[in-house]
Amino acid sequence: MIELRTPAEIDEMRPAGRFVAETLKTLRGETKVGTNLLDIDRRAHELIRAAGAESCYLDYAPSFGSGPFGYVICTSINDAVLHGKPFDYRIQDGDLVTLDFAVSVNGWVADSAVSFVVGTPRDEDLRLIDTTERALAAGIAAAQPGGKVGDISAAIAEIAHAEGLKINTDFGGHGVGRTMHGDPHIPNNGRAGRGFPLKPGLVVAIEPWFLQTTDKLITDEGDGWTLKSADGSRGAHSEHTIAITADGPLILSQA
Ligand code: MF3
Ligand code: CO
Repeated sequence: MIELRTPAEIDEMRPAGRFVAETLKTLRGETKVGTNLLDIDRRAHELIRAAGAESCYLDYAPSFGSGPFGYVICTSINDAVLHGKPFDYRIQDGDLVTLDFAVSVNGWVADSAVSFVVGTPRDEDLRLIDTTERALAAGIAAAQPGGKVGDISAAIAEIAHAEGLKINTDFGGHGVGRTMHGDPHIPNNGRAGRGFPLKPGLVVAIEPWFLQTTDKLITDEGDGWTLKSADGSRGAHSEHTIAITADGPLILSQA
C-alpha cells in the first residue's frame, strides 16, 4: 500500500532525517585505517541511544537475510556492496567503505547510505562512487510531482549506462514511513513515464548502487546477509530519503 504524507507529517520526519545524516557524517569522520567494523557499529549504537532513536536494523529479519540482522548499521567493504554485516575486521588503506543506516525518531524512519575510500584511493573506486552519487542526484532531480517512478529509474540508469556499468535491479529504492521498507519499489533501471505516479506526500528512499564489472551478486555464505559482487570487483552505494512536495523533491536525510 502506498501512503501519502501531509506537509505536517513530512515536517515530523525531519528529525529522523537529520539524525541519520549527522550520524553518517560523524561515523565517516571517525573511520580511519585500523578502525574495526564492530567499533563503527558500537559507536552508531551509542549515538542511537543518546538520541533516543530506534534502530530499524537490529531485529530486522526479512526474507533476503538470514535471521535478525543483529547490528545497527551496514558496513559493506570493497566487493561487499549492500547489507554488509559488521564483523571483526580492521579497515585497511584504500578500502572502499559503504555505511548504510536507518533509524526511526518519533515514529518516523529515515534511511541513507554513503560510500567513501579510507586512505589512498584508487581512481576507479573514486569514479564508481562519483557515479553512484551523480545517479542519486539525477534520481532525486527526477522525483517531481506529476512524474512517474520510472522517471527516477530512468534517470539513475542513464548515468550508470554512460559509465558502461550494468545494473542489477534485485534491490533498489522503496517507500519510507513508519517502517523502513514500503511501497513503491524504485528500481535502479526502468523507463521514464512508466510506473506509479509521483504525488506530493510520497516519501521514498532512492538508492543507486553499482558494481565495477558485473551485475551479479552473491550472498556471503558465512553471515547469510552481506551481498558481494560475484566477480570480486568493488561496489558503491548512495542513498537519501526524500519527500516529493508540491515544489519538488525535498531531501530529508541531510543535516
Ligand atoms: N537500509 C537498507 C536499504 O537501503 C536495508 C538494510 S537491511 C539490513 O534499504 F537489515 F541489512 F539492515
Ligand atoms: Co534503503
